Amino acid sequence: MKISRRKFVLSAALLVPMSRLMAAHVEFRANYFLHGVASGDPLQDRVIIWTRVSAGNYPGTTLRWELSEDPRFLNILKKGRVEISAHTDYTAKVDVKGLKAGCKYYYRFLYQAAISAVGETKTLPAALNGADFRMAVVSCNNWEDGYFNSFRFLAQKPEVDLVLHLGDYIYEYAAGEYGNPASGRINEPRNEVFTLQDYRTRYACYRTDADLQHLHAKKPFYLIWDDHELANDAYQNGAKNHQSNEGSWELRKKAAIQAYLEWMPIRAKNATEVRRKFEIGDDISLYLMDERSSDRTQQMENTQPGFNGGERSIIGESQYGWLANELKNSKATWKLIGNQVMFSGYAVAKGFKLPKYNDWWLGYPYERTKILDMLEREKVGNTIFLTGDHHESFVLAVHKEEKFMEYTKSHQQRPLAWELLTPSITSKNADRRSESEIIAFENMLHNKEINPHLVYGDIKSHGYFIATINKKSIQIDYYFVDNLLTNVANEYKSRSFTIDAETFVMSV
Ligand SMILES: [Fe+2]
Repeated sequence: MKISRRKFVLSAALLVPMSRLMAAHVEFRANYFLHGVASGDPLQDRVIIWTRVSAGNYPGTTLRWELSEDPRFLNILKKGRVEISAHTDYTAKVDVKGLKAGCKYYYRFLYQAAISAVGETKTLPAALNGADFRMAVVSCNNWEDGYFNSFRFLAQKPEVDLVLHLGDYIYEYAAGEYGNPASGRINEPRNEVFTLQDYRTRYACYRTDADLQHLHAKKPFYLIWDDHELANDAYQNGAKNHQSNEGSWELRKKAAIQAYLEWMPIRAKNATEVRRKFEIGDDISLYLMDERSSDRTQQMENTQPGFNGGERSIIGESQYGWLANELKNSKATWKLIGNQVMFSGYAVAKGFKLPKYNDWWLGYPYERTKILDMLEREKVGNTIFLTGDHHESFVLAVHKEEKFMEYTKSHQQRPLAWELLTPSITSKNADRRSESEIIAFENMLHNKEINPHLVYGDIKSHGYFIATINKKSIQIDYYFVDNLLTNVANEYKSRSFTIDAETFVMSV
């Protein structure tokens, strides 16, 4: 006898207590939607919704999806079917179109009699008008370094409109190779990831994290990869963590990108489309960059011949042309660049170890200078780099300086741009150094003789920042957590900074 899900629940309810029924329901759902739901790349009229069916090996089939303005789905606004198959690791993506700007929506997937968790998402507003737009900026959640507590706290903030993830969503290492053993978290698969199946399994492992899964269900994401979605210090034709006995780099890169596109709730269908922009009226333009897969040449030391050469690139001619053209012609009050690696850099005093700069923009001086020249020549104004990768929190003024890594201009002068670095969610920073070492390093960083362009540097905390954007200003609020080693933690608000739209001056 065929029995509808509604009838099953009703008749089952007569036989078992409600608590047991709820537990059975959750288990029933979890068997099919182990990796939750997600949404991303919202525009004013559309948004991507995502899920994966975990029912094991079965031939291709269809899933149903529904979208509603109401969390109980009493009135279904949009619905449809989507094919799933082994070709895309049973992931499903739908670009739901014909939506209203600035609206909250609920969505879910249905597979046979099972229903997924309900996801919440939001389209972009047509313009800010008098309102604030709040974007949380995150990066670097390494599974083996601990629990993604910050994601849980972020999911609990109803005022946040979307999450911008700047990369290192996964790390490619084998179990025990990079992380904190005290966390007790072990990578799946155990080996370093090389093949398509390896990368898929690694994404599946991360997406079983309850806090990450919950955040995806609560907020739409914009995402861009950094190196570890491929391999450490990746560039176009290789990576520091790709050895000659590990097979073809091209095949590995292809596998990594395919798994990324399958698992992330983004619209891009290939690597080129991952570089993209989002706009809110004349208020915000956000450019998401690819500084890894397309045109980055191999890292080099500044003592090596050719270091300054124009044949070396981090984003390449075509991406530079696109960005320059966009920035020159943008009428937006705020031009935000979703950027993987640090643009401005900082200096250290004698006796302190200089961080490894050659993977940053500083390692590609030709293109870095080209961007600075263009920002100056075209009087672009109100450009802000939002940066991940570094695992530490920094606020820096971006100026043109005469000499490599020698800073002379103060953050009190109107800069060509600002740069805001988000700390890691969990990945290692100076957190495991002694307190006295941390204090000494941070004091040195803030020395105006060494880093006059530096407003703020914190090298030991983990969390994220929220950018509250309106027509008049951008406010940056850093939030940190006090524990990564269990899923019990407190979050606290740390420093805040405000950039004025008219003067481009930062107040602290
Ligand atoms: Fe990282």
